[in-house]
Amino acid sequence: MQRTVDKIIDRYGAEEAELLAVLMDIQAEYNYLPRPALERVSEVMGVSRSRINYMATFFSAFSLEERGKHICTVCMGTACHVRGAPMLVEEFERILEVKAGGTTEDMQFTLETVNCVGACALGPLVIVDGEYHGNQKSAQVSRLVKKVRKADAKEGAA
Ligand code: FES
Repeated sequence: MQRTVDKIIDRYGAEEAELLAVLMDIQAEYNYLPRPALERVSEVMGVSRSRINYMATFFSAFSLEERGKHICTVCMGTACHVRGAPMLVEEFERILEVKAGGTTEDMQFTLETVNCVGACALGPLVIVDGEYHGNQKSAQVSRLVKKVRKADAKEGAA
């Protein structure tokens, strides 16, 4: 992990002004911000842990919790909620066998909910690995999960 973090820091330079970019790349690499990685950033860039923690908790794009390879997000904002978002969450929970906010045991999927991402006209909205899927129905949830699993299987076979 140390080598990976050092490479990321080298990419931008060890100036404090580059902290956000460095943290974003670490998040992209691990899907969360591992504690040892943050310690390394602090050591190499000379930025205090409290400053790093502040950044890590201020931006919702960052997670301090280990997350799955794939992130499934269901919008639970009002517009999506009234159009059936709770049923989508239930369907994800059933298929993935994990409660919202949790990660599957095999670390493949994290199921999250969010409050309005500003695309209310598309509601109910599901976001899988950053890709928006609007007007979703429960039956489509299993298709989304299958598609991700199929792509992974293909990737593994390649
Ligand atoms: S309520 Fe879901 S995008 Fe706004």
